[in-house]
Amino acid sequence: MKAQVPENIKSIVPYPPGKPIEELEREYGVTNSIKLASNENAWGSSPKAIEAINQALTNLHRYPDGSNYYLVQAIAEKYGFSQDEVVIGNGSDDIIECLVKAYVQVGDEVITSHPSFLMYQKVVQVRGGVNKVFSLKGMHHDLDAMLAAVTDRTKLIFLDNPNNPTATAIEPGKLYSFLSELPESVIVVLDEAYVDFMDYDKQVDVYSLIKNTKGRCGVVALRTFSKAFGLAGIRVGYGLMSAEVAGYLHRVRQPFNVNQLAQVAAIAAINDTEFYGKTLQGTKEGKVWLQREVDKMGCTSYSSQTNFFLIDVKGDATALYEAMLHKGVIIRSMKAYGYTNVIRVTVGTTAENERFINTLKDCLQGLGYVA
Ligand SMILES: Cc1ncc(COP(=O)(O)O)c(C=O)c1O
Repeated sequence: MKAQVPENIKSIVPYPPGKPIEELEREYGVTNSIKLASNENAWGSSPKAIEAINQALTNLHRYPDGSNYYLVQAIAEKYGFSQDEVVIGNGSDDIIECLVKAYVQVGDEVITSHPSFLMYQKVVQVRGGVNKVFSLKGMHHDLDAMLAAVTDRTKLIFLDNPNNPTATAIEPGKLYSFLSELPESVIVVLDEAYVDFMDYDKQVDVYSLIKNTKGRCGVVALRTFSKAFGLAGIRVGYGLMSAEVAGYLHRVRQPFNVNQLAQVAAIAAINDTEFYGKTLQGTKEGKVWLQREVDKMGCTSYSSQTNFFLIDVKGDATALYEAMLHKGVIIRSMKAYGYTNVIRVTVGTTAENERFINTLKDCLQGLGYVA
């Protein structure tokens, strides 16, 4: 008899990886395509990070520093945490997985939204945990429904703030009152992958939430170098949390979970204020321009606290996605999430944004969605 796989593993739908851009180009017979589909940094990576990687290339025969010492130090100093309150991961995905490994046993419950970042549910399923999933309400996390669903088996609540794919943020006051009502036995994971792009007054004071947990639930904030810092390809993210929670994550993480190049690149990137500033400014300006152009065409753009936004294209989103792919512009259809007429686009460089707008115009006319 073949080795048996448990039902919770069999039923997992693999994360949709997408084809390499070269394969798509071959399949669709296009060249010079642009990818505005994965919320990456359109301006590349910090030149300082690239330089640090080049310098570290002579040391690849050594294992990386398993404590991530200097990167932990840099993050702790920058955000005012102590070093035992910072955990580094192979992308923030890695920390999501460590949290579930540390806190969730078979039958334990984890609360999330739909749609939101897909990895939360997947890792819970691997663990044999129970996903309690709540539909967004008006494109926002339904905090009331989540609160009402908490039981003594609830271990974690994942809230991506801002949410992917809707780009909406929780109003800080609403979040603080939600947290104050949760029992101490629950940990709320605030996934702040896009925090850098948020308006200042929408940002949550995670420092106070993590430092003052007396009498209420714990809070973990997740951050990543994949977006505003332009290092998606090298995989590095981090979590801010109490030293106690961090101690448990260190027990379950892999000993060398972050490679050497990622460590030096992240240290350089976090101090490269010039590249970071250019990214934020370019994103802000590009988003304003794109949204104005999109609305002029008769589509409706949704407001956004991230480097991407949703557009109601007034017709089937997947047909539009296909039409744009044939012209070398890669975006996302939100149809699978239940938003039939909605696409998601990442803000690109000026040239990419112009190409997106021209292609969108052509395709909308071709499909007869708007005049
Ligand atoms: C909300 C959210 N969280 C986490 C991640 C994963 O980030 P990382 O590249 O650090 O694993 C993403 C990636 O797109 C995301 O959208």
